[in-house]
Amino acid sequence: MSDLAQLENEILADIAAAADEAALEAVRVAALGKNGTVTALLKTLGTLPPERRKSEGPLINGMKDRVNAALAARREIFKTAALEARLNTESIDVTLPVREAPAEIGRVHPITQVIDELTAIFADMGFAVAEGPDIETDDYNFGKLNFPEEHPARAMHDTFFFDPKPDGTRLLLRTHTSPVQVRTMLTQKPPIRVIIPGRTYRCDSDQTHTPMFHQVEGLVIDKGSHLGHMKWILEEFFKAFFEVDRVGMRFRPSFFPFTEPSLEVDIQCRRDKGEIRFGEGEDWMEILGAGMVHPNVLRNCGLDPDQYQGFAWGMGIDRITMLKYGMPDLRAFFEADVRWLSHYGFRPLDWPTLAAGLSPP
Ligand code: PHE
Repeated sequence: MSDLAQLENEILADIAAAADEAALEAVRVAALGKNGTVTALLKTLGTLPPERRKSEGPLINGMKDRVNAALAARREIFKTAALEARLNTESIDVTLPVREAPAEIGRVHPITQVIDELTAIFADMGFAVAEGPDIETDDYNFGKLNFPEEHPARAMHDTFFFDPKPDGTRLLLRTHTSPVQVRTMLTQKPPIRVIIPGRTYRCDSDQTHTPMFHQVEGLVIDKGSHLGHMKWILEEFFKAFFEVDRVGMRFRPSFFPFTEPSLEVDIQCRRDKGEIRFGEGEDWMEILGAGMVHPNVLRNCGLDPDQYQGFAWGMGIDRITMLKYGMPDLRAFFEADVRWLSHYGFRPLDWPTLAAGLSPP
């Protein structure tokens, strides 16, 4: 037997005899380490004349490969044995309660999540966020928005009024986010491009209505803004929000004192065994009110309707949240039941972004 073959046999025998990882590592170092036997042979190759290098090179390298393979195979055996030993000794008591780390327990309310989602989508389209107070004047909530005095629409809104002040005026809880349209036009010069998320109030309560609810308003004012722009914006919004490729929309004529023409927008959906899918299907779901800002409103806010025009829409945040995340009862949103929140809420550090995906996986 050649010296080479004998050395190989010895190393392979040592590998087979190694009882644990430490012993195996010692064998590896003795053969392939800096001062190992195989390493020494490899080093001699450089000193050989070319013909012998040609014949011995493959022999030594072949041996090195076989030694490496044997080492790897033995290591694998140790690993499997270790895993088996662990599985045999470990047991898990599945009846123990799960104890989550404190950072895991907190939950973000779905409304907060959805406000973050829609803000991310509209910010991407160049919208700023505008805000206004929950307690409004009659003039901003109705008057400047072209609701005539004693107009039935004021009663239709089921307004919560405060007691009248000595001068006869009375404050109210805003019934929609539209007064922030007025505040924005009174303080900013066009072009205006804002969304207005916020709390709104109406004296109403059942499975789909609560006295306090949330709306997001949109307002665009410029010289050439038209309904085609709005259609595109809403379409892009719904596709991004419901995370679908296509959204069928339907515009129906409607009436709001502050828009002309006014319309309601439905989006296409399919109802299937209690589940709703958006963007396709035979059904339509009413989702928002919209229109071109009425010239009287522009005028009331100091803008010349011959120079500027624009559009606005208002949409219920609670409703699109229920639709997207499949929540059946609006009232539960505001009951502060932690069991509800831990079921429907979102992990605090997974905030939604367009880059990483809006809703968590
Ligand atoms: N403010 C209206 C409502 O609450 C919605 C709306 C907003 C309609 C903007 C048209 C334009 O019902």
